[in-house]
Amino acid sequence: MPFGIIKNARKVFPQNQLSKGAKQDLIALDDASFEFEEGEIVSLLGPSGCGKTTLLRIIAGLLSRTSGEVTIGGKSIDGPYEDYGFIFQSPGLMPWRSVIDNVLFPMDVLKSNDANAKTRAMDLLQLVGLNGFEKARPHQLSGGMQQRVSLCRALIHKPKLLLMDEPFGALDELTRMEMNDLLLRIRRETHASVLFVTHSISEAIYLADKVLVFSSRPARIALNLPIDLGNERSQSTRFTNAFMQAERRASEALGIIKPEVAVSQGSQA
Ligand SMILES: Nc1ncnc2c1ncn2[C@@H]1O[C@H](COP(=O)(O)OP(=O)(O)O)[C@@H](O)[C@H]1O
Ligand SMILES: [Mg+2]
Repeated sequence: MPFGIIKNARKVFPQNQLSKGAKQDLIALDDASFEFEEGEIVSLLGPSGCGKTTLLRIIAGLLSRTSGEVTIGGKSIDGPYEDYGFIFQSPGLMPWRSVIDNVLFPMDVLKSNDANAKTRAMDLLQLVGLNGFEKARPHQLSGGMQQRVSLCRALIHKPKLLLMDEPFGALDELTRMEMNDLLLRIRRETHASVLFVTHSISEAIYLADKVLVFSSRPARIALNLPIDLGNERSQSTRFTNAFMQAERRASEALGIIKPEVAVSQGSQA
């Protein structure tokens, strides 16, 4: 059985939750179905406002769905649970806590007295290249470093699932590429599954085992594109034919470019 199963997920926000002028219920998510395996990275691409964050929040059990099924690790999700880490565009660190105490914060929330947590926090900081910074305060770190801390914080309780909502969107291009390689390494070491929302087609493909392209609202999955780039990826992978083909397919599904004429199809296989 796949690790994650999303079946006919649908979310309608009733009009009374919207502004007074709203005449119709708002269909944020219209029948989304997909599956993913343990350790798989799935990228979610789609126009702004199409319902990607809504979908992540439903999968996290933070938002009720109107209909459909969500199963994670064999459990049907019907409310908040602990076995995931959520990472947002803004690192959202607590300025008064040191780096290591920020990483350990979920253990406080979970009221865990796991004696190994501190060692694990140090190991995670080492993994993301922040050894030596454990006593620093967030304001002493660059944006990229802060996002590394938030990655460690999301991983401290060893979740099987990472939900990432445009996590590197505010970073410069080079830092973003470094973070992409870091995320691939984290996946290798933790075997966590990752659902990764991004606006960058190139980032979506570079990271993913498959890319889901959503239509504009109400969001439907316009394309479920397997990415066949193997597990050993490096920045030069971006310049391969397979990569550029995937970029073309995703761009077509997003309506950015017109579909290629069918003549060349089949000869690429
Ligand atoms: N709590 C809410 N109540 C009413 N409408 C909402 C709520 N949350 C999101 N929406 C609406 O649902 C749509 C999808 O939003 P969102 O999931 O944030 O899109 P995305 O993350 O793809 O940009 C938007 O039109 C947004 O206004
Ligand atoms: Mg969003």
